[in-house]
Amino acid sequence: TARATNERMRVVDVHTHMYTPEYIKILQSRDKIPLVRKFEGSSDPRLILLEAEVQSLEEAEKKKKKNAGSPTQLPGRPLTRHFSSLEQKLHFMDTHGIDVSVISLANPWLDFVGASESGPIARSINEEFNGMCALHPGRLFFFAVLPLTAPVPTVLESIAHVSNLEYCRGVILGTSGLFHSEDSSSSSSGRGRGLDDPDLLPIFKAIAAVKPPTGAAAAEEGLLVFVHPHYGLPNEVWGPRASAEYGHVLPLALGFPMETTIAITRMYLAGVFDEVPDLRLLLAHSGGTLPFLAGRIDSCVRHDGFLQKQQTQTQRQRRKNIWEVLKTQIYLDAVIYSHVGLKAAINASNMDDPRGRGVERLMFGTDHPFFPPLENGEGNDTLADGQWESVTLNMDAVYRAGLEDDDVQRVLGTNASRVMFLEK
Ligand code: URA
Ligand code: ZN
Repeated sequence: TARATNERMRVVDVHTHMYTPEYIKILQSRDKIPLVRKFEGSSDPRLILLEAEVQSLEEAEKKKKKNAGSPTQLPGRPLTRHFSSLEQKLHFMDTHGIDVSVISLANPWLDFVGASESGPIARSINEEFNGMCALHPGRLFFFAVLPLTAPVPTVLESIAHVSNLEYCRGVILGTSGLFHSEDSSSSSSGRGRGLDDPDLLPIFKAIAAVKPPTGAAAAEEGLLVFVHPHYGLPNEVWGPRASAEYGHVLPLALGFPMETTIAITRMYLAGVFDEVPDLRLLLAHSGGTLPFLAGRIDSCVRHDGFLQKQQTQTQRQRRKNIWEVLKTQIYLDAVIYSHVGLKAAINASNMDDPRGRGVERLMFGTDHPFFPPLENGEGNDTLADGQWESVTLNMDAVYRAGLEDDDVQRVLGTNASRVMFLEK
């Protein structure tokens, strides 16, 4: 079977994260999420990222104050060396037959960093990433982080900076968008205005205009934008039992993908894809639910009297439909853990295309170091040195999607190499 020949497949991981030592230091110094904190009963410090983890954090803190022993439910996840060690990343790649990784800072990036600090911090983190890649030329590339809490000129400077870093192949973007100074004081979570904020247009244009690395056959230009969720949906959606009984399942399995779906649909409705036709996005988790819901989005647009009346004739003519956007401006990662979802992702950009080249827009990923193998409900360093089931699931999905060997190779590596110029 094709699976047996995996050794000969060139595998590229486009969805794989790290926190740099500098970033972890920032998390250690914080008393609001995201943060890193030590608790009794766990040798690794805990990494607490999500709104859904705040309740268990508060309960563990209460116990700690009362000296009531170690908490029964430790908040967040253990911050193992897999999150920050480059050696571990390489070991993980070798264990799973991954030839090349395009690494990115994990969520929530610099969303919580003050306006005056985020510019310099982005600069040093991006240089740190570039330096790590330089230690393993050809095996590592990276998505840069942008200082979205800083004023627009600082963000534009950052794009100029990273476009000159040798191993940078794109930028990773959450769904918050720019943080306007009025926003952070008025909303407790400090969210930005989203990816449909018109003030983002010059930033998208700048990203789309970056020239490819020298020597590359410049069929496609611009840095790729890797859109990745973090905030999920409001906690109330999960109901009163979730935080005590359901772990991270609801926010991660459903909140994350819905967040991505909503962010991209908002960009679509705002006309961002018409306004910046060279903009190319890579969507995390196979686009959330976008492949499944694209038909419904399209139909809701067609049948929305308000939208139809509000738009001028030219706007109506210019607007690409969502299928068109999926076929020309969107790539999807293959981090969906089943061939059922993977086929939907492939079909999403096949629509009405007799050649069915949706398979050229999918890219394998792992989401390392999240979703490690567990023992007694916890990850540990020894287990994490071995095979990861989360990787096997994504790998098997590619082999079970009914693809020809050539197309398996495209999804596993060739697409990423072509789009991000990963060949030396
Ligand atoms: N959980 C996160 O917080 N981030 C990821 O990328 C995956 C799981
Ligand atoms: Zn991820």
